[in-house]
Amino acid sequence: MDFSETSEQSQLYREIEIPFGFPEIFFSRTDTRGKIQAGNEVFQRISGYSWSELAGKPHNIIRHDGVPRAVFWLLWDRLKKGLQTGAYVKNKSKDGRYYWVYAIITPCEGGYLSVRIKPSSAIFGVAQAEYATLARMEAEETLSPAESAMRLMARLTALGFETYDAFMAASLSAEFSARDANLQKAPRRTLALYERLMPSAAELLAAARQISEGYLTYRFVPLNLLVHAGQIGETGAAIATISTNYNILSEEIEHGLDGFLQAARTVSHTINVGAFLLATSYVQQEIASSFSTETPMDGVDHEVENAYLDQQRATYQAEALKSLAGIEQELKNFFGMISEMKRLASGLAAIRIMGKVESGRLSVAVVQDLIADLEAFQEIVQSGLSDILQANGALRMDTSRLLEAYATEDAPIPR
Ligand SMILES: Cc1cc2nc3c(=O)[nH]c(=O)nc-3n(C[C@H](O)[C@H](O)[C@H](O)COP(=O)(O)O)c2cc1C
Repeated sequence: MDFSETSEQSQLYREIEIPFGFPEIFFSRTDTRGKIQAGNEVFQRISGYSWSELAGKPHNIIRHDGVPRAVFWLLWDRLKKGLQTGAYVKNKSKDGRYYWVYAIITPCEGGYLSVRIKPSSAIFGVAQAEYATLARMEAEETLSPAESAMRLMARLTALGFETYDAFMAASLSAEFSARDANLQKAPRRTLALYERLMPSAAELLAAARQISEGYLTYRFVPLNLLVHAGQIGETGAAIATISTNYNILSEEIEHGLDGFLQAARTVSHTINVGAFLLATSYVQQEIASSFSTETPMDGVDHEVENAYLDQQRATYQAEALKSLAGIEQELKNFFGMISEMKRLASGLAAIRIMGKVESGRLSVAVVQDLIADLEAFQEIVQSGLSDILQANGALRMDTSRLLEAYATEDAPIPR
């Protein structure tokens, strides 16, 4: 055998992409360790292996070294926690050619089920570039998979995805919509609304964080003011009273902000998870119905796999609906916290006015500087709250539209 020719050929094949169409959806089912138990004809055909070569083999039989280890580390970390996971995956077929998929992997009885669609959105391009960089870094710096996963997370944060859930939600709904467009299908109103909800929730979180950071920057102002008021003596008595009140209020703000920030994170997380679950349920609906009409492959029990797919479809449809209702609830909770923050903000505004009057009367430079700091903090709170009110209004409106769209357009078909 001429090995040089073989390696030349495999080098050449490495650069060749296997074509497949947007309508083609892959599925495979594994045991808890990732050994292939079942799959469909699309998966078998594109992999280039016969079914008997795939059955019982670890899923890394089609692993491509272009996927950083970080991705699989994250995938398994989530799967072991029972969490549904989405990821871009580049695979290698038997002859060395490659193909990209967007994989949605969910826990199922006795293992996991992976359903894969053809990616084409703008986020796909970003992911490809990130994977190439990270795979290179892993090789050059001999990073452990966990270290590499931390780098991947840092990159995703820099790209505007607060968490992996945020990345999954944005990427899957973008892929689903892009695929619909490629198939000339009308866009799903529900997903379009989720695509509006996600940035609004990110804005809400950013504004809450801005207030929280403002608090940290100026947290010593009330105490400093109190110290300086003491040093001024008799004439600083009014400033001392103002500082004491400010100090009490500041502690309330600190406590209030913890819950406020947490509630904003929960709103954002619930929306991200909801978007991912809804798109997952759509993809699973499609594979369940396409597989039921597919000619069975030898070695795959069609009835058993139909039952698995139908079970997943029903589970994720219910999960998607549950999370939709959860968004409304979380927004209500958050709204309650806004009223509390508004109350604290008006207390702050009152102290600011009193402080300004007193500091003008005293004309002590350091006190004036501290009052200017108090003003700066109050402005941060005010502008943060106004951003939050705006984002919250948009979120509430789009959520009720989403519930309506789900109930009318996409209501689950009773079986
Ligand atoms: C349901 C399921 C589907 C998977 N599909 C793929 C896949 O298509 N390609 C792949 O490389 N890994 C896939 N994996 C992950 C593999 O189990 C494995 O973690 C990965 O190939 C990395 O292998 P390695 O650690 O031996 O490098 C899948 C895992 C599960 C549970």
